[in-house]
Amino acid sequence: MAASRLVVLVSGSGTNLQALLDAIDAHPEGPEGFGARVVAVGADRDGIVGLERAEKAGIPTFVCPVKAYATRAEWDAALTAATAAHEPDLVVSAGFMKIVGPEFLDRFGGRFINTHPALLPAFPGAHGVRDALAYGAKVTGCTVHFVDGGVDTGPIIAQGVVEIRDGEEEAALHERIKEVERTLLVDVVGRLARHGYRIEGRKVTIQ
Ligand code: GRF
Repeated sequence: MAASRLVVLVSGSGTNLQALLDAIDAHPEGPEGFGARVVAVGADRDGIVGLERAEKAGIPTFVCPVKAYATRAEWDAALTAATAAHEPDLVVSAGFMKIVGPEFLDRFGGRFINTHPALLPAFPGAHGVRDALAYGAKVTGCTVHFVDGGVDTGPIIAQGVVEIRDGEEEAALHERIKEVERTLLVDVVGRLARHGYRIEGRKVTIQ
C-alpha cells in the first residue's frame, strides 16, 4: 500500500512537524515503513521556524495569512484549495493556531487531526497550558483528536498524561507536555496511516 499523504499545518516552531519528519526518515520506505509521508507544509504566517524545517527537508510549503483575504470565508476557501492541491489522505494541525472554516471541514472532516496541549475536554482553546495551571490542576497532558466544528471538541484518538510540578511556570510545563505530545503524535499518525481507522460518534478505533 502506498504511504498516506500528509499535509501538516503549522504556526510556530514546528517541533511536532520535525518529530514526524524524523520518524518518517528513520523508517525504511515500503511495507516496513512509517506508512505516511509529508507532501506539503502549510502555515498562516511567514517567517516561522516550522516553515524553515519544511524547506530544509525539501518539502513544498504554502502560506495563507488570514489578513491577506477580505473575509474569513475567502481565507477558508484559499486554505482549503492550497491544502487540497497536495491531495492529502490526512491533514495534521501541529501547532496551527487558527480555527479552520466550514469549507475546510467539509473537505477534510474525518481526516483532519489536531494536537492540543491539555487533556480534553478540559482546557480547550489557545491557552490550554496556562488554563490548567491557573485552575490548579495536578495533572494535564496532551490530546490528539479529529477536528470538528467546535474548538478542540472533536473525537479523541489518544492522550498523554503529564504531572504538574509545584510552582511550575507555563513555559517549562509546556515544554514537558510537548515532549510527550511529539511522541504521541508520531505514534498516532503512523498507526492511523498503517492500520486505517473508524470514527463512530465520539469513538475512534484504529483498526
Ligand atoms: C503544541 O504544544 C501544540 O499542541 C500547541 O502548540 C504547540 C506547537 O508546538 N497548539 P510546535 O510548533 O510543534 O513546536
